[in-house]
Amino acid sequence: MPQPCNMVVLISGSGSNLQALLDGIKAGEIPARISAVLCNRADAYGLQRAREAGIPTHVFDHKQYDGREDFDAALIQAIDPYQPQLVVLAGFMRILTPGFVRHYTGRLLNIHPSLLPKHKGLHTHQLALDAGDSEHGCSVHFVSEELDGGPLVVQAVVPVLASDTASTLAARVQQQEHRIYPLAVRWFAEGRLRLTEQGAMLDKQLLPETGYLIRDKAFQAQAPS
Ligand code: GAR
Repeated sequence: MPQPCNMVVLISGSGSNLQALLDGIKAGEIPARISAVLCNRADAYGLQRAREAGIPTHVFDHKQYDGREDFDAALIQAIDPYQPQLVVLAGFMRILTPGFVRHYTGRLLNIHPSLLPKHKGLHTHQLALDAGDSEHGCSVHFVSEELDGGPLVVQAVVPVLASDTASTLAARVQQQEHRIYPLAVRWFAEGRLRLTEQGAMLDKQLLPETGYLIRDKAFQAQAPS
């Protein structure tokens, strides 16, 4: 049996994506183990999820550091002893320095609540509503030095309904996040997903610019015509 893929997960908040990964690992669907969870907020609920799963946690309050460089250096110092094959950003709400990103190139994944390259940054659900988008969704991507940039791995599309508010839309998108992050991490852990000079490759095939695109038929049925 090959060794499970060794991962470190970074969070800032509720950790529902961390939970989806923990559940996938427990169910035997992802051949990986999470050796540590790092967080920049001591009160984040995700820390409790990690502790309940018996995973070591480390809290780094970004306000205690002189700047991004110092903060990221402290993160690297904490992450590297675990020798992770993959570093997973799961709702980690800090902008990372180019040095950090370069250090983990090819083994750094992020999930973002929009169909990138649309709606980078914060408040993505409100942005999708304000733009009058008929579709919205979420994206998993390899992290590059560009904020919310980097080759896409997988996207899930959901419809925007006329009755939607930012919170109903967020809930619909999060359901999909909890499907696509475990999927992308499973591919990586199985050795099927890699970042190359050409872009993100799955099973030795270059993924399209959108990444692997998931359109749920059940959701489509509810979409306005
Ligand atoms: C998720 O919706 C994730 O897409 C978003 O933060 C949320 C974390 O939720 N990430 C970003 O906006 C990164 N730019 P969680 O803590 O429950 O997993």
